[in-house]
Amino acid sequence: MKVAILTGGGDAPGMNAFIRAAARAAMDLGWEAVGVDHAYDGLIDGSFMPLDDKAVSGIINRGGSIIGCGRSKRFRTPEGQQQAIQAMRDHGVEALVVCGGDGSLAGALRLHDLGVRVVGAPGSIDNDVAFTDMSIGVDTAINTTVEAIDRLRDTAMSHHRCFIVEVMGRESGYLAVASGLAAGADMVVVPEVDTSFEEILHRIQQSYERGRPHYIIVVAEGAALHAVDIHMAINESDNVFDSRISVLGHIVRGGRPSAYDRILAARMGWQAIETLREGVSGVMVGRQGRHFLPTPLERVIGEERTINLQVRDIAIAIAS
Ligand code: F6P
Repeated sequence: MKVAILTGGGDAPGMNAFIRAAARAAMDLGWEAVGVDHAYDGLIDGSFMPLDDKAVSGIINRGGSIIGCGRSKRFRTPEGQQQAIQAMRDHGVEALVVCGGDGSLAGALRLHDLGVRVVGAPGSIDNDVAFTDMSIGVDTAINTTVEAIDRLRDTAMSHHRCFIVEVMGRESGYLAVASGLAAGADMVVVPEVDTSFEEILHRIQQSYERGRPHYIIVVAEGAALHAVDIHMAINESDNVFDSRISVLGHIVRGGRPSAYDRILAARMGWQAIETLREGVSGVMVGRQGRHFLPTPLERVIGEERTINLQVRDIAIAIAS
């Protein structure tokens, strides 16, 4: 059996550990593993690369994806999907493993509906994929964000300033809440909660009056109040602090995966191949508590993973 491994959407630390685990699990069964070069565009073009023992050796600690990631406009069309299926046939690829976020998993579902044997796994720093406690890459992204905020706090304290830290997450505030809590941020602004400039200015004032000489606000990129607008509102008001803004952006998508992400990726990579071996298709393997369980991709795509808003409230309550 020849199985292709595809990493789609935005890259996430731990994807290489996933590729390694899936490829080695396939080899263990006597199967051949190949990588799809740059996600669905590569699938359409029939661009595969060998993932033999040597190719996946020494990659467990590397960020990014050795086979490349990406989003494909061509794959969204029925023609693109048929071309991808034809390319798989031409190259003797009988099954596909897809690691990525919502968009990539929706692509996997489309292929399954068209008769392709496919199993998905969640890989995205956004942690917005349903039916898994964590997606591959989230833990590393949180750690990198926390390290950045720790550094910003040093300079915020030295200058008695307010720092606005914008983090990725698309429509989800998960990364902002988790890193805000872990870094001891004073305020967390997320798409899931309405927040006003007045509330932010009031909280800063309160915190100052309680004796805190600096202030850190983590803002999710998808929040209705944009980081830059909060920054300007603070500087234009007669607020006690001067504000500076720092957009972390893609920085937290790169770098060495944490041990947690490597373990998660290893378990999911192995489980994806095991699921194919059992003859199951059209599912995503997700971590649910101590177990790695399959959920039909249709359910995964149809459901939004919500964040626990209480965690945001706790982060704010215990900060200042
Ligand atoms: O989905 C992962 C993610 O990093 C989001 O957090 C972010 O909004 C988006 O991808 C950025 O995409 P791009 O790399 O195409 O700019």
